[in-house]
Amino acid sequence: MLTNQEHIFSEKINTSVENGEFIKLIISNKRNKTSDLNKIIVSPVEIKKGFRLSFLYNYKTQDITKNYKLEESQNLIFNELKENFLNVELFTANEVIRLFFSLKNNKPKIKISEPTFKPAVNLNHDRKKHKRIELKHNIWLKELGITTSEGVIKKDMHDKYRQINKYLEVIENMIIKKTSGKNLRIYDAGSGKGYLTFALYDYLKNNLKNETRITGIEFREELVDTCNKISEKAKFENLNFVQGTIIDSNIKKVDVFIALHACDTATDEAIYKGIKANAQFIVAAPCCQKQIRKEMNVTNAMHSLMKHGILKERQAVILTDGLRALLLEANGYKTKVFEFISTEHTPKNIMIVAEKSKNKPDKDAVLKNIDEIKKMFGIEFHYLEKLLNENRIILP
Ligand SMILES: C[S@@+](CC[C@H](N)C(=O)[O-])C[C@H]1O[C@@H](n2cnc3c(N)ncnc32)[C@H](O)[C@@H]1O
Repeated sequence: MLTNQEHIFSEKINTSVENGEFIKLIISNKRNKTSDLNKIIVSPVEIKKGFRLSFLYNYKTQDITKNYKLEESQNLIFNELKENFLNVELFTANEVIRLFFSLKNNKPKIKISEPTFKPAVNLNHDRKKHKRIELKHNIWLKELGITTSEGVIKKDMHDKYRQINKYLEVIENMIIKKTSGKNLRIYDAGSGKGYLTFALYDYLKNNLKNETRITGIEFREELVDTCNKISEKAKFENLNFVQGTIIDSNIKKVDVFIALHACDTATDEAIYKGIKANAQFIVAAPCCQKQIRKEMNVTNAMHSLMKHGILKERQAVILTDGLRALLLEANGYKTKVFEFISTEHTPKNIMIVAEKSKNKPDKDAVLKNIDEIKKMFGIEFHYLEKLLNENRIILP
């Protein structure tokens, strides 16, 4: 349990990281003066797996470096203070925050002073430059419980906030840079509590200053009502939510059709609706790929692998989403399947982005390929294929 002062310090770390203002943190003043560990210097690093804090442990005879995620770092810092050190200083672009313990009563005190370091140009600069939504005075972030009234990200909401930013980064790179980003008509199917729907609207409207219309489709009425109320409160005139199922939704003109974590076959319904409405982009982050798992009846040599539940489950994910990508290709889309956000934040991490291609697909070859794969795994039907066939979107 952190004391009030420690909690303030912990929040300062979080906010400075989120805003790209974290420069350095130094843990010093040993409790035990004979200890080998002199001090710990913590700096931000961007590695392949994402953002980390790099801990340099400065011992009498050597230095050791280890990288940790933000949450782990927080625990480590407070453990080191409890066990080994009396002082920690956080240097940010705006201030220096010092937390120190008195030897007499072991109670922490906080002191804030003027900044002494200029921010490093590289990492911090990039992170700040890419801040896509404003935290302060942001109505929807507060209403959805991501930030406090002061515009600070809540302790348990950092993963959600990172997911939002990663999502906006993907949309920016894969869609906005390829279009003017203006006047886009966007649908978000299975919008749920609306985190990602609000984020995209906010980013397009307030950061890019683009006029956009976004509609969330969601069958849970209470979520639709709440989202519409928040949208009104935030004065997001062109963001609305409608109650209903994806398959029955009335889609006329659409540029971008999105379905994020719409469970199981709801993703197929969304892709089908996007293809049918001739969307320029279809974005899906599928989850719970149950339909194909139930269908799989492997009788060839792969059978010995599929007897392991976890391997069958992973194979079902590959088949479900791989076949979705091929069905999109058969319908004239270029597709990309990639990891949307690292597994440490959420296991639901695959994303399919499909863009309508100017080139005609070799439909027969793709459909033959789909057929071969289905045979290999004893799959009778893929739900998306069924929807497309029944509605004669693909004519075999
Ligand atoms: C796991 S939540 C994801 C919410 C949001 N897209 C996100 O990624 O944060 C899935 C939402 O889709 C809704 N949903 C699932 N199937 C649906 C369908 N067929 N039609 C409309 N909404 C659906 C559920 O009610 C739920 O709110």
